[in-house]
Amino acid sequence: MANDTTLQNIIAHCKEYGFIFQSSEIYDGLSAVYDYGQYGAELKKNIRDHWWKSMTQMHDNIVGIDAAIFMHPTVWKASGHVDNFSDPMIDNKDSKKRYRVDHLIEGYAETLGKEEADALLQNMDALLAAEDFAGLKKLIEDNKIKCGVSGTANWTDVRQFNLMFSTEMGSVADDADKVYLRPETAQGIFVNFLNVQKTGRMKIPFGIAQTGKAFRNEIVARGFIFRMREFEQMEMQFFVRPGTQKEWYEYWKEARMKWHLDLGISPDHYRFHDHVKLAHYADAACDIEYDFPMGFKEVEGIHSRTDFDLKSHQQYSGKKLTYFDTEINQHYIPYVIETSIGLDRAVMLVLSEAYKEEDLSTAEKQDSRVVLKFPPLLAPIKLAVLPLLKKDGLPEIARELMNECRPYFKCFYEEKDTIGKRYRRQDAIGTPFCVTIDHQTKEDQTVTIRYRDSMTQERIPLSAVKDMVMKTIQVY
Ligand code: GAP
Repeated sequence: MANDTTLQNIIAHCKEYGFIFQSSEIYDGLSAVYDYGQYGAELKKNIRDHWWKSMTQMHDNIVGIDAAIFMHPTVWKASGHVDNFSDPMIDNKDSKKRYRVDHLIEGYAETLGKEEADALLQNMDALLAAEDFAGLKKLIEDNKIKCGVSGTANWTDVRQFNLMFSTEMGSVADDADKVYLRPETAQGIFVNFLNVQKTGRMKIPFGIAQTGKAFRNEIVARGFIFRMREFEQMEMQFFVRPGTQKEWYEYWKEARMKWHLDLGISPDHYRFHDHVKLAHYADAACDIEYDFPMGFKEVEGIHSRTDFDLKSHQQYSGKKLTYFDTEINQHYIPYVIETSIGLDRAVMLVLSEAYKEEDLSTAEKQDSRVVLKFPPLLAPIKLAVLPLLKKDGLPEIARELMNECRPYFKCFYEEKDTIGKRYRRQDAIGTPFCVTIDHQTKEDQTVTIRYRDSMTQERIPLSAVKDMVMKTIQVY
């Protein structure tokens, strides 16, 4: 679809209209960390709420939890993150800059012709799969790949670098325990599996959902909020009887794609990417990819994780994590299907899909607008209420409409500037409906409603506004 220019335009628009800011911007920012502004926070919350509702309210057998970010350090040993959650890295000795090897080579491949680039990337994939670090270094040297900062090819050896952030818990340095900032929310679900199953009297198959922050010391963090060091995940672990995981994997693959498409996003912008090389704990895995401005990239993962995590926690904790299945009279460790979507990536997806630069020029005059065509359910503001004038009792009627609607959805009141300018500002933040209160409203109790996408206007009864908006934001 779009390209890098579009990405730069989206980033600039997000900053200008209060969606997303670089973290600590007044101190020149913190790399790959972002803050959500007044509209971005609403958009993100709406996506999170929609996901939470679709999981926990629309399914009898899925409940939500909110586990702590800090967990016992052994959790990360059991999960494999201490030993395996690392990427091969290389440092440039002159600039002291560290690169993820695959990103460095991919960046160089982008400067080559298609055939040469494909051959290079194929070579890289084979070396990565074989964990041949000497071979990767040779590949970088043979291709004379240079550091973007120093401009030299003076490289260290390739080494593994763990992506978890750690800190100390405890007041006395010597006694302090090393703890990690969780790199995924899933482990908070696994360690609470029996707590939830027993207290909720849950019967298999059932799911536990959670949203929350995760942290990864990504070395090359690129693509705006696509790859961040602090981000949010929305994960659901679905516990099933061993042997039924294949059918549940297919079920969740389809259910998650349907969730995406139900947002009104074009099916052409999605595709599945099945994993060929599976992680050691998985017996099937795929990504849902979206056509971001930088091309098709992962937004969500669906993984059939077998009984790896629960089994490992049982072994490391010494606590039994089995379930008694009364239907077949058997104790077993359940198998798990995981659905894992990055909330920030979902925000970026919705922004990429919604962002439109439209040429509205006519024979008489040149005109254009930037509009965010969000689905009404996700739009930060659903309705703008605009009195035509600041007098003649029009603001009072507008305020009454605001008071009627605001308990149900987020509204915005504005009386400054011409109506045309006010419409454009609402287009830029993606408000689907604007209502203008004018002198006719006083006479016949009707208002002008203006639709963001078509820019058409019509008169409707003042009393119908709230229900009309409500209808567009009820998806279930
Ligand atoms: N529990 C499984 C898990 O964490 P993952 O593929 O590493 O799997 C799941 O991550 C999702 O989290 C990804 O599909 C992506 O949407 C999001 N994600 C991962 N790393 C991210 C990062 N650095 N910045 C933003 N989102 C990220």
